Amino acid sequence: MNSKEIIKAEEKYFINTFNRQPIVLDRGQGSIVYDKDGKKYIDFLAGIAVNSLGHSHPKVVEAIKKQSENLIHISNIYYNEQSVILAEKLTTISSLDKIFFCNSGTEANEGAIKLALKHTGKSEIIAMKNSFHGRTIAALTATGQDEYKKDYLKNLPHGFKHAEFGDIESIKKVITENTAAIIIEPIQGEGGINIASKEFYNELSKLCKEKEILLILDEIQTGFGRCGVMFAKELFNLDPDIMCIAKTMGGGIPIGGILAKEEIANTFSPGDHGTTFGGGPLVCAASNAVVDTIIEEKLVEKSYETGKYFKNKLMVLKEKHSKIKEVRGYGLMLGVEIDEPCGKYVDILREKGFLINCTAKNILRFLPPLIITTEEIDKLIDVLDEVIK
Ligand SMILES: Cc1ncc(COP(=O)(O)O)c(C=O)c1O
Repeated sequence: MNSKEIIKAEEKYFINTFNRQPIVLDRGQGSIVYDKDGKKYIDFLAGIAVNSLGHSHPKVVEAIKKQSENLIHISNIYYNEQSVILAEKLTTISSLDKIFFCNSGTEANEGAIKLALKHTGKSEIIAMKNSFHGRTIAALTATGQDEYKKDYLKNLPHGFKHAEFGDIESIKKVITENTAAIIIEPIQGEGGINIASKEFYNELSKLCKEKEILLILDEIQTGFGRCGVMFAKELFNLDPDIMCIAKTMGGGIPIGGILAKEEIANTFSPGDHGTTFGGGPLVCAASNAVVDTIIEEKLVEKSYETGKYFKNKLMVLKEKHSKIKEVRGYGLMLGVEIDEPCGKYVDILREKGFLINCTAKNILRFLPPLIITTEEIDKLIDVLDEVIK
């Protein structure tokens, strides 16, 4: 099928949930991806912070090939070695004690909410306005953006309250004796690369300890080197009780995880939670390759250095163009606030060979692979400069 036929067939057969860009991607290598018509793009979105090693990294390809020749799926009725190797690695790098493997970020948040409710025996969860935690019923209810839930308001569960991100007094106002946990992204991704003050994160940690409220950190977008540190909690000295991970960890193969401190993790016993696919040998083999490569190739350090370079270049553009209101972010999770809706920038940049994203209506969001080079960044900056002009 050619591109036009594929797009037409999708309209016919798919439930209409996505506003897709009008290109059919066909193959990729590193930071480069090609569409079906052979047009080349530099990928500054990386499958929304997933392809941190770039496309088809040879170590991930090799791990998937090798494992798929051996065993792909077995269910959680049996043990598998790859999942145990991965669990040891992830608990070590996160400084949390135990993990539950699932299939996506949303599912990790769902399970984390269940775990917090069961552990505390309480009934309320506090989330932040502008947050994004997923699309299933509980994760959607936690999500602090009305746009996503307006059609379901009558059917959403009770017990979720929302406070202003970055405003500790606003959180204090919604705490009750029934508060089980606060769920928060260290940096809001979908909501527009929003960062709170260091003071806020300090106060938040203190508040959770004082009131014995669990802190659930959603590191689904920020984790695994994205922000120039292995996990964004390191930027703000956060000590979560439960931490949710997904996206990057599978190198594109669906996987997520709920990490927790031992005492909290031990609340669950067999039957309390589960999954058919989660933690299977194939996904865990891919994830082991991803995490090993991030560590061996020093991609966290690279994200820090390249991110600094990228942010400086964006700051120079800000000095030149009054259309740019702010440049924010850490490492290779960067946002540029424009003084108008930025969908058209995405279209023009795509036509010029760059894949980027617009979120929260007017924030250009950059989430390139951690292997992006300064030369590739320079190319984007030159074109962005021209486009804004
Ligand atoms: C912070 C955060 N939490 C949760 C999710 C949902 O993850 P998934 O799409 O893998 O279910 C996302 C996805 O963008 C996210 O950015």
